[in-house]
Amino acid sequence: MRVSASTKVYGIFGHPVEHSLSPVMHNSAFKALRLDCVYLAFDIQMRDLETAARAIKSLGIAGVNITIPHKESMTFFLDKMSPEATLTGAINTVKNENGKLTGYNTDVGGFLRAIKEDLGLNPKGLTVAVLGAGGASRAVVSALCMNEVSRVFVINRTFEKAKKLASEFKKSFKDVSIEAVSPEDSLETENVLKISDLLVNATSAGMEGIEQIEIPLEHLPMQSMVYDLVYKPRETTLLKRAKELGHKVSGGLSMLLYQGAESFEIWTGETAPVEVMKRVIE
Ligand code: ATR
Repeated sequence: MRVSASTKVYGIFGHPVEHSLSPVMHNSAFKALRLDCVYLAFDIQMRDLETAARAIKSLGIAGVNITIPHKESMTFFLDKMSPEATLTGAINTVKNENGKLTGYNTDVGGFLRAIKEDLGLNPKGLTVAVLGAGGASRAVVSALCMNEVSRVFVINRTFEKAKKLASEFKKSFKDVSIEAVSPEDSLETENVLKISDLLVNATSAGMEGIEQIEIPLEHLPMQSMVYDLVYKPRETTLLKRAKELGHKVSGGLSMLLYQGAESFEIWTGETAPVEVMKRVIE
């Protein structure tokens, strides 16, 4: 990669970011298409987010990805948001066009493509249990609701957050049944699992160093599938247990790939070299 005075700069804002796979993924894509672009990781503390957002304009950074913990806060520093970003209330991609910042949420499309490619699933008519009520969960719930899911149960440790998420989405999607569930209510959790076609882990639980969520997987019907957004480790304890019980499962590396591919396309206008990107992250 030759960096010159005209090289376009892209990057990721998050905290922590040193283990992010996005820099290798995007730099390999730029290289494959011979684009004069570079992608860097910027470790941004919460208190510095506004200054960093202004720096996108002042330094002429062409685009950034936004990750934990800034996906929701960053929405306050944009000029425009795409419809799915507005619906989700969180973004993961910013494009700088002549000093105007537009926010996108490619986690929405990334999740949809991941469940389609890995599990052969289309949300239409499904009943889905989603663990978590943070930014990642919001993207998953948006993806499901925008694609005619039938019922969504949001299960979250902090019940208030699940209730808030459910009530917000109910206003936008009158035809979808969206309910909040407390994992402490074991009977309700069991009943939800018994009727779910898909279980999605959108919490950070199960990530390296974070304990796995306790969920009574034995109540999931045999044909139900499990998608875990966590990709480090590749196979979480949740996925391992679900696989042992005979369920079709997939981990979050595919969502990372497809959200990245969509961001790349938004920034460059080129078709993302998905195979190249996949090889480097694997
Ligand atoms: P993200 O953008 O990845 O969604 P987030 O907005 O910080 O990050 O949300 C993290 C989610 O994971 C939350 O739903 C959080 O539950 P709380 O709302 O109760 O905090 C959930 N989470 C994180 N660690 C967890 C754990 N060890 N057990 C259960 N849930 C956990």
